[in-house]
Formats: sequence, structure tokens, C-alpha cells
Amino acid sequence: MIPQHIVSNIIETAQIEEVVGDFVSLKKRGSNYVANCPFHNERTPSFSVSPSKGIFKCFGCGKAGNSVGFVMEHETVSYPEALRYLAKKYNIEIPEITDDKQLEEQKERESLFIVNDFANQYFQNNLYHTDEGKSVGLSYFKERGFRDEIIQKFQLGYSMEASDDLLKAAKKKGYRLGFLKKLGLMSSRNGRDFSFFRGRVQFPIHNLSGKVIAFAGRTLRKDKKIPKYINSPETDIYNKSKILYGIYFARKSIRQKDECFLVEGYTDVLSLVQAGVENVVASSGTSLTQEQIRLVKRYTSNITILYDGDEAGIKAAIRGVDLVLEEGLNVKVALLPDGEDPDSFIQKMGKTGFDNYIKEKAKDFIFFKTDLLLKETENDPVKKAALVRNIIQTLAKIPDPIKRALYVKECSKLLEVSERMIINETNKIKWTNIKKGQDGQPQQSRRQGNMPPPSSPPDDFYLEQQQGKTYEPTLDRPRELVELSNELHERDLVRVLLEYGQKEIEIDVPVAAYVVNEVEELPFEKQIYRTIVEHYRAHLEEGRVLDSDFFVSHENEEISRLAASIICDPYQLSENWEKMHQIFITEAVLLFKEEVFNLMNRYKLRHVMKMIDENLQNIKDCKTEADIRELQETHMQLLNWQKQLAQLLKTAVVR
Ligand code: GTP
Ligand code: MN
Repeated sequence: MIPQHIVSNIIETAQIEEVVGDFVSLKKRGSNYVANCPFHNERTPSFSVSPSKGIFKCFGCGKAGNSVGFVMEHETVSYPEALRYLAKKYNIEIPEITDDKQLEEQKERESLFIVNDFANQYFQNNLYHTDEGKSVGLSYFKERGFRDEIIQKFQLGYSMEASDDLLKAAKKKGYRLGFLKKLGLMSSRNGRDFSFFRGRVQFPIHNLSGKVIAFAGRTLRKDKKIPKYINSPETDIYNKSKILYGIYFARKSIRQKDECFLVEGYTDVLSLVQAGVENVVASSGTSLTQEQIRLVKRYTSNITILYDGDEAGIKAAIRGVDLVLEEGLNVKVALLPDGEDPDSFIQKMGKTGFDNYIKEKAKDFIFFKTDLLLKETENDPVKKAALVRNIIQTLAKIPDPIKRALYVKECSKLLEVSERMIINETNKIKWTNIKKGQDGQPQQSRRQGNMPPPSSPPDDFYLEQQQGKTYEPTLDRPRELVELSNELHERDLVRVLLEYGQKEIEIDVPVAAYVVNEVEELPFEKQIYRTIVEHYRAHLEEGRVLDSDFFVSHENEEISRLAASIICDPYQLSENWEKMHQIFITEAVLLFKEEVFNLMNRYKLRHVMKMIDENLQNIKDCKTEADIRELQETHMQLLNWQKQLAQLLKTAVVR
């Protein structure tokens, strides 16, 4: 526990622009700073830092917070960890922990790091400064084409054949056998202690701060009966599902290139880095875990998986990838020619050959999977049905609806089934997941307050109408719309919930599920409306959809009064809309589906316009020519967004 007064001191001392500036290159703009948002991909900066308010905010993805929040988000650490980081940065002393047990644990962890560090030095020394190491280990690495600079960068080493050599060296330095055993550097069998990695070349595994948390050792023998690689056991400092080999060296480059290559083996990482492809990490032969994906996600949302073209490689490529999609990452797969791994391939082809191959062969994961499975079905209708189900499961995991829609289109072509059928099926899955309390979207991203893109109706009923309409509504007057109170929008959406909540907006998806999900990302400002939405969500998670009676007869008087009054007032916002734009929409509102989508899109439109306002203000405050140009670009993007929403609304209004 950090004492409260220290916490306050840390928060007061930390300068947001300095904290953010350590990770993101900031440009001064007026009294604020701007940058490309580190939390989502963008070309024009919508990430802003306000020193006077002590906060950062991204107008693109909606993330915002103070210094502590930034460190937590950016480094994916807990609240106390972020505070400790800031305390260190600003030389604020945190009083030592008085809890004996915690102190003990901390000491223990530190000891493990120290002993690992010793072993790492020892292995490296063996490799370069002993006869055995040079003739066996170093010559092996050289034979494989690894140059000194890469060997030294990755701190490769060698473990002597003699099974007591490590222990002797450790004892000389005063390290106890107990720690060596805990770290798995020493093993014992039949009462004899021996060096676990003896006779192997060593690959230290680093954590994000560059400390050695474990080792892998490769045998130099061809004997198929002994394992090629062996690893340190899990310890207090090594959790293999939370780390990727090479991440410490790769992270900068991953962020710069905005892409991460994922390979299987240690030597693949080495060869790629040696050839100049530095944004690469290895899963070390195990299937990917959620934690590993989140690790990559801190730096980029683009992953390209590079695996062998043989069957095992393909299987490995498919395993775990749905997980990557769930995290909202863009996944590509590039299979290498049969018999090649990234190591052998790049050593043969060089960086240019490698880059070209990837450019040509990297395929979007979903198409990769669809293609692959399709080949296996060979016109067998039963297998094909299973395949369609399989792909639909994958599609349902993509959190971004626009991206999902694109994939649905492509997959329907590949699979030769109708888009509508795929959409209905994915919606079913999503709804089932909502019922289970996990709607396929990572909890985290729901909390981010991302602006969801325009809501297109699930079936093509707008599309059918769009053709041949020439009417232009007055949506080029956004100012007027913004003046509509947010509360009216919110009230209208609550009305829709009360009125149509139980009706199906898509097959098997009630209106309530749709609305509740959408507004989760753009939460209502007014508390009472939020409470109502929360009631809906809580019941949806148990598979039930509330009706308006529930609220009208609610024990909370405010809620019951509101519910009663809402179901009495006909189309409040719609009337305003009508007055303002002289559009007669009485017919349109008869169609509840259309009305629901309309309201949702109008709600989003309002948010976009708010962003436009803020951006325009930024342009006004802006001093330099170059900055203005960038802001204007953002402005164009927002206008485009606004247009898309307006387009959807227009078509509906015209009807
Ligand atoms: P080299 O043969 O040295 O080029 O290694 P590689 O990386 O090409 O090996 P391979 O493709 O056979 O395996 C890929 C990865 O799987 C390795 O880097 C290891 O992380 C892991 N691996 C391979 N063999 C073993 C093994 O016997 N035991 C364990 N634990 N992991 C292994
Ligand atoms: Mn290999």
C-alpha cells in the first residue's frame, strides 16, 4: 500500500506532457500538445494533451485520463505499478513496505533476477572466453550464420558439458544452490545435482524491462530422442504465457513500423533481426495466449504470422488466431515455402526477397482460413456446412462492425452463401454471447468509449432504397443539429427501448440488445437514462428482455414516473427533426426498425459534430502552417464521417 499523501504528491508532481512525452512524440499546438494516438492507428493526430488540465484525450478512440491513467493504459500496468513508475520518474520516495510477508516476496524476486543475471553473464562468458564454448557453442552459431553483433545483442551463451561447472562458478560468487534450483538452472536426480542445460547453447528470455527471466537451451546433438529445446520452469519471475521471445528488443520497432511479425522459433527471431527486420517476436512453439496478444497490442494492432508451409505450420497458424481477432487486431498469415522456416528463408532470400514475399503472400487471416478449409471440403455438403459455421464463429469475433461487414462480403463470395445468411448467423452468435454475458467483444474495448461507426441495418433495406433517390436533405447545417439537447437524444433512445425493446431488430436479436450494446460505447450523460440501460443490460445478460411495465411499476419513483411519461410522448426528437428540416417523416416513423437505426445514427452524428466543433476550435488556436494542415485533414475525415451518417439518415428520412 502506498500512503495516500504520497499518492497525491505523485499525481500533483507528474506533468502530463512529460509523462506522455516519454512514449509519444508530442507537437506543441497552442497551449496543448498533439500526437498520433498511441492507442489506435491513425495518420492524422487526434490525440491531445492538455498541460493545464493535466489530462490526455484522444478524439479518435475516446481514451482519456491523467498521468497515472496514461501509464496504466500505455504500459498495461496496475494502478499501484503506475504510481511507482511515476514516483521513480520524479524521484519521489515511497516508504518501504512494512508488511513482512510482502517484503520477503520482494526480496525473493530480486534474488531470482540477480541469480539469473549471474547465469546469463556466465553463459555468455563461456561462449566467448572458454575453449569449449568457442569450439562447440560459438562455432555452432557461426555455422548457422549468426554474426557477433546479433549473438551479443541477444546475449546468447553456452552451458558447459561438465555438470558441476555452473555450481562452482555460482559458489565462488556466493550464490546458493537453492536459488539455482528454484530457477531450474540446477536439477537433481538420485541425490545428485547437475546443471540442467549442460552442453547446450543458451537463449536468455528477457522481460519488458530487459531483465532475464528464463532461458531456453538448444542441444547441439542430432539425436532425435532428446528434446531439441528445453526451457526454465515457471517461477515467480517467469510466466511463459505472458511473455514473447524478443519483445524487449522488438517493441520500439513494432511501434514504429506499426506491425509485428510473429514467428515460432528463437532462431527465426535472430535471423530476421540480423537481416534488419526488427519487429519480430516468437511464440516459442506454444500456442498464443491472450496475455501475449495484449502484449503485442500495446505497440500495434497489426500482426503478421509467419509459419512454415507444412501441415504443422498451418495448424499452428490457425490455432489461437480467433483469439487475436477477438482482441480487435488485424491478422495476416504468410505461409513460407514448404520446408522453410523464417530463419532459413531470410538467410537465403535476404531482406528484400523477404519483404517482397510477404507483400505478395501475406493473406488476411479470415480469407486464409476460408480458403484452406474450403480446399478440405471437396464438395462435401456436410463438411461445407461445418466450415460455414466455423467461419461464422470467427467472423462473430471481430469487434469492429465495419471491418466485420467487409469480411462478411468477401467470405460470402468465397463460400458461395448469401451475405444475409452470414449476417444473421453472426448476429445470432453475438446475441447468444450477450446472453452469456460476454458479447464477443473484449471487455476492455467496450470500456474505452470508442465511437462506433455508423450503424447500418443488418439486412439490406437501406441499400435497396438508396438507388434512384435524388432528394438532398439539409444535413449540411450541422450547427443546428448540435443545438438539440443531448438529453432529448437520450430520452428518445430510452423511449425506443421501452417501446420496442422486445421486438426483433434482426433475426433473434431484440432491439434492447442492439441499443444497449451500442450505447455502451457512447454512454448516456444523464444518470437516470443510464440506470435504465443498466437494468436492460443486467437482464439481457440473463437472457431476458425487460418490458416497459417493469419500469412503469418500478419501486424507484423517479424511474416509474419517467417511464410513464416517456411512453406517452410521441416522437419528441422526430418532431424537432421535422420542424427543423421541413421534412415530413410521419411515414418513416411507422417503421420501428428504421426508427431505431435512425436514432442511433443521429446520436452518433451528434457526437461527430461535437468532435468537429472541438477540432475547429483547435484550428483556431493553432499557430503553425503545418499543424493547421493536419487539423484540416482531421476535419475532412470528420466531415466524411458526418456525411456517411447523414447519408444513412437521409435514406431513411426520404421514405
Ligand atoms: P532450429 O532448429 O534451431 O532452427 O530451431 P527452430 O526454431 O527452427 O525449431 P523448430 O522449428 O523445430 O521449433 C520452433 C520452436 O518450437 C523452437 O524455437 C522452440 O521454441 C520450440 N521447440 C522446438 N523443439 C522443442 C522441444 O523439443 N521442446 C520445447 N520445449 N520446445 C521446442
Ligand atoms: Mn529453424
